[in-house]
Amino acid sequence: QELQMNLEQIEKGGFEHFMLKEIHEQPNAIKDTYRGRLLVKEGIIRMAGIDDNIEKFLNANRIIVVACGTSWHAGLVAEYIFEDLARIPVEVEYASEFRYRNPVITSNDVVIAISQSGETADTLAAIKLAKANGAFVFGVCNVVGSSIARETNAGAYTHAGPEIGVASTKAFTTQITVLTLIALKLAKAKGSISNSDYRYHLQELELIPEKVAKALKSDEHIKQVADIYKDARNCLYLGRGYNFPVALEGALKLKEISYIHAEGYPAAEMKHGPIALIDEQMPVVVVATKKGHYEKVVSNIQEIKSRKGKIIGIVTEGDIHVKELADHIIEVPETLEPLSPLLTTIPLQLLSYHIAVMLGKNVDQPRNLAKSVTVE
Ligand code: AGP
Repeated sequence: QELQMNLEQIEKGGFEHFMLKEIHEQPNAIKDTYRGRLLVKEGIIRMAGIDDNIEKFLNANRIIVVACGTSWHAGLVAEYIFEDLARIPVEVEYASEFRYRNPVITSNDVVIAISQSGETADTLAAIKLAKANGAFVFGVCNVVGSSIARETNAGAYTHAGPEIGVASTKAFTTQITVLTLIALKLAKAKGSISNSDYRYHLQELELIPEKVAKALKSDEHIKQVADIYKDARNCLYLGRGYNFPVALEGALKLKEISYIHAEGYPAAEMKHGPIALIDEQMPVVVVATKKGHYEKVVSNIQEIKSRKGKIIGIVTEGDIHVKELADHIIEVPETLEPLSPLLTTIPLQLLSYHIAVMLGKNVDQPRNLAKSVTVE
């Protein structure tokens, strides 16, 4: 028993929980993801799984992403980045819905299956269905040699290292990193991005690990914010564009480990319903970084404020407008808009973590949840 405890403590590397360790591992995990693939000086992205199948991607009618949970959120980020940079239409599907919907799949479709564990039953079944209908299936997995990694036609590992905490953290940011590399590689091959923009994206991607490390420095401040809102019964998360999926992911993280009801919404959808929920009891986390519809998000924040909602703004360093309106701000370093989810996600992970710890919840093994969902 004692030996077991010590072993676990060693595995946690001095952190109180696996989740916190994995949150802090993200700078290195992202570096491990792009190591050997992102060659900034040469202006090359090297990925064998894409190089060997580049025609399939370039000739695809569309890309269909299948995934569940957090991996599905990474797929949503990919939708923005693939369409924006590579100009390839993307659909993002819950694997569980896709597999039972009698979906239209052709041999001109490329399916990207995203899964940390590589064992998610619904995602695996969606892959089999897509393959049976002639689609080319590409896997983005973390666990090497997993069922999904074996079942797909080709793939790219995230190389995030083992993720033990049930709440997915470094798997999400490394999935986005892999998908960003793919999108940039395809954009370059298609000529849908200018050479200078392409180079700029590579340079900025290389800087992400140190910017994540900087974002992690807000931990103490985030803990104070967590202390203020830990007793909330509900929480709303808003974001637009690239940061809409981040809002969904922030809400999922809070509900799964703290059991506080949370909803993620595209900020502009607020006026179509959720705004009715807002009163002085309602914390609203708004991702409001400089690039990406900033003015529009600021006006959404004004709407929340006039209804007395409590605003926690995730902003770009040095922001002044949101600071004036929000009850709290949490800063992240500036980056290119398509890369911003890699930074804005960090404070949301920490916020959920601290709230759950303060509430005495089992952060690494929340009730009713399993790390790999191998049943339907
Ligand atoms: C995330 O925090 C969840 N625990 C869960 O949504 C997870 O992302 C989902 O079950 C998918 O798992 P996978 O990536 O291993 O396929």
